[in-house]
Amino acid sequence: MIICHCTQVSDRDIMSAIDWMRASDPDTIITVGKIYHALGKKADCGGCVSLFVSTMRSNPNFKVPAVLQNLREAPGAEAEKKAAR
Ligand code: FES
Repeated sequence: MIICHCTQVSDRDIMSAIDWMRASDPDTIITVGKIYHALGKKADCGGCVSLFVSTMRSNPNFKVPAVLQNLREAPGAEAEKKAAR
């Protein structure tokens, strides 16, 4: 199925690009821009982004690597640090 009509990128293209990126670098963060770049294309109108992202999310290799998860501090952690000083 064609996901991006401007560039003729299909769901299979997106899946293949994600699988290739994850196999090449297990710790990489996969973005829409990186997929376009890997496919040698460039987004035009942006009308496909929502469908493009939902297609990306359907690939199990898309998830954020474990070493990069939960890096953001919990809400309120900054206040607790100040209170402890
Ligand atoms: S439909 Fe994808 S950039 Fe236009």
